[in-house]
Amino acid sequence: MKLVKLIANLGYGSRKQVALMFREGRITDAAGEVLYADDAVGHADVRVDGEPLDPPQGLLLLLHKPVGYTCSTKDPGRVVYDLLPPRFRLRNPSLSTVGRLDRDTSGLLLMTDDGALLHRITSPKAMLPKIYEAALAEDLRGDEAAIFASGTLMLESEKTPLAPAGLEVLEPRRAQVTLVEGRYHQIRRMFAAVGNHVHSLHRHRLGGLGLDGLAPGEWRLLGDADRARLFDTTL
Ligand code: URA
Repeated sequence: MKLVKLIANLGYGSRKQVALMFREGRITDAAGEVLYADDAVGHADVRVDGEPLDPPQGLLLLLHKPVGYTCSTKDPGRVVYDLLPPRFRLRNPSLSTVGRLDRDTSGLLLMTDDGALLHRITSPKAMLPKIYEAALAEDLRGDEAAIFASGTLMLESEKTPLAPAGLEVLEPRRAQVTLVEGRYHQIRRMFAAVGNHVHSLHRHRLGGLGLDGLAPGEWRLLGDADRARLFDTTL
């Protein structure tokens, strides 16, 4: 791929703007030699204003989503993209969230520009467990684990019952829930179906990945070892 296109696709500017950056000598190699738009140089050897390029196409990142941010690009309020470098919003192919967390849910959120990888993670076939902690308005009754595990729980306006889900009671009003699917507001609606209400919800695990000490609002790029852990459900 031509350097102009590669750099424009990373969100540094339109092709016209990137062409101007070349003319201004802002694009160099690792040794500081000015590059020209038709030079054949690998991604790792390019610098913009002396800084290495943003990660190439195929990135996967893990964000600790704080409460109050939506996963949409269009919401007029705070969106998860506000927590990333502004250029990431302009990338082509675009960066998408892998599934969604509600505005009021915090925790582990993956984002990628790799459509095939996104599909592989969210596909029902992958059966990747998603583990949440829910704080509840009412004491648990005691029958919720059996109802969630039944595979017959039907949520309002849904056509098929939910897949079996796990529930572990942590305290009378605190539970850990494990899902292998992701329907709209699923956990909030599951607790509503058993006469309870979710006060707060946090996802701390997806497949074999955890937040590993990332604070709310922090993110990190995932490498090959993380990707292997993601799909390792024996962890
Ligand atoms: N279930 C919900 O209700 N909300 C989420 O964000 C995730 C799962």
